[in-house]
Amino acid sequence: MADGISTENITRLFKERLKEIDISVNTQEVSYVTEVGDGIARVKGLNNAMAGELLQFTSSETGKVVYGLAQNLDRDDVGAVLFGDLEAISEGDECRTTDRIMDIPVGHSMLGRVVNPLGEPIDGLGPIATDARRPIEFKAPGIISRTPVCEPVQTGLMAIDALVPIGRGQRELIIGDRKTGKTSIAVDAIINQATSDMVCIYVAVGQKASTVAQIRKTFEVMGVLDRTIIVAATAADSAPMQYIAPMAGAAIGEYFMYNDAEGNPADAEHPGGNVLVVYDDLSKQAVAYRQMSLTLRRPPGREAYPGDIFYLHSRLLERACKLSDDLGGGSLTALPIVETQEGDVSAYIPTNVISITDGQIYLQSGLFFQGQRPAVDVGISVSRVGGAAQIAAMKQVSGNLRLDLASYAELQNFAQFGSDLDKATQRQLTHGQRMTELMKQKRFSALAAEDQVIVLFAGNQGYLDDLDVADVLPFRDGLCMYMQDRCGDLREEVLKGKISKELGDQLEKRIAEYKRTYLAATHPEQLKDEVSVDINE
Ligand SMILES: Nc1ncnc2c1ncn2[C@@H]1O[C@H](COP(=O)(O)OP(=O)(O)O)[C@@H](O)[C@H]1O
Ligand SMILES: [Mg+2]
Repeated sequence: MADGISTENITRLFKERLKEIDISVNTQEVSYVTEVGDGIARVKGLNNAMAGELLQFTSSETGKVVYGLAQNLDRDDVGAVLFGDLEAISEGDECRTTDRIMDIPVGHSMLGRVVNPLGEPIDGLGPIATDARRPIEFKAPGIISRTPVCEPVQTGLMAIDALVPIGRGQRELIIGDRKTGKTSIAVDAIINQATSDMVCIYVAVGQKASTVAQIRKTFEVMGVLDRTIIVAATAADSAPMQYIAPMAGAAIGEYFMYNDAEGNPADAEHPGGNVLVVYDDLSKQAVAYRQMSLTLRRPPGREAYPGDIFYLHSRLLERACKLSDDLGGGSLTALPIVETQEGDVSAYIPTNVISITDGQIYLQSGLFFQGQRPAVDVGISVSRVGGAAQIAAMKQVSGNLRLDLASYAELQNFAQFGSDLDKATQRQLTHGQRMTELMKQKRFSALAAEDQVIVLFAGNQGYLDDLDVADVLPFRDGLCMYMQDRCGDLREEVLKGKISKELGDQLEKRIAEYKRTYLAATHPEQLKDEVSVDINE
């Protein structure tokens, strides 16, 4: 008996009891919806809600759960945007904080699918099986976790690969008025990944559902759908959906970048994936954000609105990067698209995104209507980091290209006056005009890097200068076919490094050979002069 109440016994019993006690504190807060409408809910109290925190709403009638994001933290209440079934929630329904920020399902099984910004399939092909989730907002990796851009993203478009090359991990803005071929360039870039190892994500914001369906069809026909994920918030979707769509696209992309092929965290032995994300377009996301801000009753003239958008877009685009080897060396390349009004790039959304990205591809409607398509304005388009990733031969042959094209554009204005031009200027004009023509590409007619190098080489060596302008494109395409058929080894050689004197000579021999065949078939009269010279010799 005395044993039973000994000090040791009591402490032992206390310790055992203490172990059983659950001392975790549930920090979730519960309150009630005071007002709901236009996809926005106001919730009384919730003093501990965090900005951007996921809120869980439960319908008192049906028990249905709808999620929302805390946006406005006011003194007496919280303003939240709702996602999903907006009708289900009404005044008086319960709302609780969740202590976490919003996340969405991600994973390999999403490839080939069209999802909404909540990661739910909207293509009618059944559910997507995946356990992985990622937060829609994620802190961009710091400088130590990154390496400089060093591998190219080939778009197959000469006007881009040669002049404004894009590297893996880069952010390159595509900017221009409506109907200048912005979407087409991004779609062509994705299609050109059919034979690469890149995973592509196309984020459609505020477009018509039919346009998105059309783009999906295009990917399917061109054989890239199985390596592509489409995230769509169409014009019919609510503003909050359009607002989070680009972030959802980035989250899905990050899954592939930070993980290896098995879905485990990538490291030095297990490389991470390479991802290309297209945000089409960020101007519509900004409009959706403004609409959301207004329905949340933020003051319309609020000075901070452009600042909010800047912060939003910079957070999004900072997530693009090339990771260090220790983190698996994966990359996320971002191609944001911004639409301008009447070519005005000084409006605040274009200037914001221009300042955030590593380069810009300017598309001009003037060029587009003149038939210069893709309508890249080479004079002002830049890529600040992609050059480091360009293949050596391409860098070599494109060295003078920008100058050729720019001086042509300038001289063209003079030439219009019909004044007499000296020989050198005349030659510059002729050459520039043909090189400009050479940049034209129809949709879905990507050129492989080696073909681009070869035709640029031919152009630089003057093989186009005595052709009619109308002959430049047929000649280019014919030359590519000819080289593919007969000179596989030369094409391979071109990719290996700089073009040596020897390789150059061999290439010239082949190009001259093809040119004779081409002229014989199309302009035999031009060839006759050459032949007669031969005979005389
Ligand atoms: N390289 C091209 N060659 C011919 N037509 C093109 C080319 N690029 C775009 N187009 C056409 O121009 C139109 C507008 O293109 P789109 O990419 O939708 O422009 P945006 O996205 O700038 O509004 C489309 O009908 C498209 O087929
Ligand atoms: Mg478009």
